[in-house]
Amino acid sequence: MGNLQFPQSGNGLIDEGHEHLMVLLAEIGGHLRQPNGRPEAIALFSDFLNALRNHLGLEEVILRTNGYSQLNNHARRHTQLIDRVTEMVETLTYAPSVHPLEVLDRVSDLLIEHEMVEDSDIWPCLAKQDSLQPTTWGAEMETGIEQIDEHHKAMIEYMTRLHNMSDDAPLEDIAQVLNSLRSLAIVHFELEESLWTDQCGDQKANNAHAKAHVEILETLDEMTPRLQTGEIALSTFVDGFLTDWLINHILRVDQPHIALFNSGAAFSDEAAATLKNRKDKAAIQ
Ligand SMILES: [Fe+2]
Ligand SMILES: [Fe+2]
Ligand SMILES: [Fe+2]
Ligand SMILES: [Fe+2]
Repeated sequence: MGNLQFPQSGNGLIDEGHEHLMVLLAEIGGHLRQPNGRPEAIALFSDFLNALRNHLGLEEVILRTNGYSQLNNHARRHTQLIDRVTEMVETLTYAPSVHPLEVLDRVSDLLIEHEMVEDSDIWPCLAKQDSLQPTTWGAEMETGIEQIDEHHKAMIEYMTRLHNMSDDAPLEDIAQVLNSLRSLAIVHFELEESLWTDQCGDQKANNAHAKAHVEILETLDEMTPRLQTGEIALSTFVDGFLTDWLINHILRVDQPHIALFNSGAAFSDEAAATLKNRKDKAAIQ
């Protein structure tokens, strides 16, 4: 793949992901050029597949929180890419006659095709991250449900703390804030998801929202150890992921969805009455 570089996306985490994938491919190539390097190359290919899954997963989180309209189509391309790369890597194990460097070339071509052609459509969406900054709580973030707003405020406070730490801050300090944020996020997601029940609401919107929560936690869990080993800088993590999750998720996913709940418009009469009851009880407490 020579010195090929992917275009700067405007999101530091995505750019680091590209670099990491390229480094892994170069290392695989190095092993494959050694006389007995095939087993090491196969092992590294599995690291490559994990890194690719994580990279594409992060991209989907960002696209979802930005309200990218073609997300489902794009996510399908990701699944196809992973399937094809997996298939090719498997031929290295099960078809010893296949020339390994040819496999490497084909995997590289698939990656380039996706990153430089199919992804060109999403670059404006990724670049939007630049305009996001950790921020203090603002009225524009209110959802109208006090408990949810309080959670959001606390999460933004944790994010601001991380934003104010330098990249060489003690790992224990970073871990402590991240753990608190994660614990709160779990409670918070459960609260939001408890707003809808099986029998009410716009099921499609409910499912998409719940999926966004799962993806956020998965991404957080995938990145935490990489932060701890110094593979990702704290500032890149905050700018490339946390701000996107907190600000964009609140503004673009939570608010419109919760507005539906507040109005009761998306519910059957019975479900709207249940919701009203719950809100009345919350107001009394
Ligand atoms: Fe990418
Ligand atoms: Fe993509
Ligand atoms: Fe939320
Ligand atoms: Fe949410």
